[in-house]
Order: sequence, then C-alpha cells, then structure tokens
Amino acid sequence: MNMIDPAAPALPQASVTVGTLHGVGLGPGDPELLTVKAVRLIQASPVLAYFAKKGRRGNARTIVDPWIAPGTEELPLLYPVTTEVHFADEGYVRELSGFYEESAERIALELLAGRDVALVAEGDPMFYGSFMHLFIRLKDRFRVTVTAGVTGMAGCWTAAGLPITWGDDVLTVLPGTLPADALTQRLRATDAAVIMKLGTNFPKVRAAIEAAGLLGRAVYVERGTMAGEKVLPLKDKTDDAAPYFSLILVPGEGRRP
Ligand SMILES: C[S@@+](CC[C@H](N)C(=O)[O-])C[C@H]1O[C@@H](n2cnc3c(N)ncnc32)[C@H](O)[C@@H]1O
Repeated sequence: MNMIDPAAPALPQASVTVGTLHGVGLGPGDPELLTVKAVRLIQASPVLAYFAKKGRRGNARTIVDPWIAPGTEELPLLYPVTTEVHFADEGYVRELSGFYEESAERIALELLAGRDVALVAEGDPMFYGSFMHLFIRLKDRFRVTVTAGVTGMAGCWTAAGLPITWGDDVLTVLPGTLPADALTQRLRATDAAVIMKLGTNFPKVRAAIEAAGLLGRAVYVERGTMAGEKVLPLKDKTDDAAPYFSLILVPGEGRRP
C-alpha cells in the first residue's frame, strides 16, 4: 500500500498555458488583400490550419503562402466529401458533421498542448465559412479570436469596377443552391444582388436572372482578384461551366445625385 508522507515536499506541478484559436480571414484571393492583423496572427501562431479538398492544396493555403513564417507546423483539414454532393443528402450531412467534430478535436489537441492555432479562411470567416462549424464547437472550451476578412463578393465587385449599391438600394445575397423559383422571386424583390455558389447551379441561376428581367445588368466574375480572374457581362457568357470560385453581380441603379 502506498502511504503519503505529509512531510514530503510537494512535487512541482507541470503547467501548460492553453493556446488560443485565431480564425483569420484571408480576403478574396489577392495575397495583398490580407489585413495587417491577419498577417501578424498567422506569423505569430506556431500552427497553421486550413481546409482543403483531398488531393488538393486548397485555396486558403495558396492565398496565405507568401505570409507563412519558417518553422510553422501545418494542419490541413481535408474534406471527406466534395461540395458537389447536395447538402440535403443525409449521408453527406452525417459525414461532414463527423469531419467537423474530428477537425475540432485535432485543433483542441494543439491548443491543449499550449500552441496557438491560426485557422485561415478565404474571404471573411463568418460569411458562409467552414470556419464557423469549428467556431461553434470550440468557442466555449477555448479562447477564440476572429479576424474579419475582405469578402469574396467585395473583391469581385471591385475587380469588376462595379459600384454595387447606391443610396437606399437593398442588396440581397443569394446562394445559387436555392430552387429556381425562389431565386427569381428574391431577384424581383431586390435592387442589387450577389449570387454565390454557382458551380453546377450556374444554368439554373442564369435562367432565374433572365426570368427576373435582369440579364442585361448581370456581370459574371470568376476567381475575382486571383490568378486567372475573368469578368464578363453574363449575357456574353455562352457556356455553362462555372468553377467553385465564381459569382454573379447585379448592381443597384439607385437614385444618383
Ligand atoms: C462557401 S462560400 C465562402 C465565402 C467566403 N467566406 C467569403 O467571405 O467570400 C464560397 C463562395 O464564395 C464565392 N467566392 C468567394 N471568393 C470568390 C472569388 N474570389 N471570386 C469569385 N467567387 C468567390 C463563390 O461563389 C464561392 O462559391
């Protein structure tokens, strides 16, 4: 039997300061559109985490490349499924939720070991961002900071040289995943619009814009501010191919002085 000797000196307690998770927005693609704060946090964090598709480097990792400090440990979080599967599919939702749980635990292990983690996100982390799924899982267990980023849509309307809203114009942001009639209805009710998440939804979105009578005003932007950027009037786009990083802008007309 082990007896505790009350006279024995107390053993020194090993203490580890728990790390902080920094959610960091990277902006729309141009590596010069990161904020000063984003660069500072990325360079001060010993661990860099980012989402990517299996077998790909990932857009966030590409944007952040010029700013990574030597010796930074990388923690890629690789999606098990692609965004091409419909989000209403039950198996897809289950698999994605398991992936977010596992990713949160991988980050938690780094934080518990006392290492700060910068989890970088394209655009703004709180705007349709995967970061949000880890934020809600970790925010009550750890210190979490979030650094705003320039959104993809802001990068796109500046790249297109397109003032998007004037005066009292109402701007509506629509995911292209909505049904065609819902898209048309929302487009008819707004002054200006951004339609994101095109991909395979592109033909449906174009038809909805046409049905709302907005084809003449709509502008298609692919990879705004990134290498390979394309900007063209939607009416001049003759094919149905739209990559993941593409969106459509419908600028407001407003009451101009
Ligand atoms: C999951 S959302 C992420 C949005 C991001 N958090 C942001 O702040 O812009 C991805 C969608 O944003 C749009 N997007 C983001 N950046 C873009 C860019 N640089 N060029 C074109 N579309 C972009 C595309 O429609 C894409 O499908």
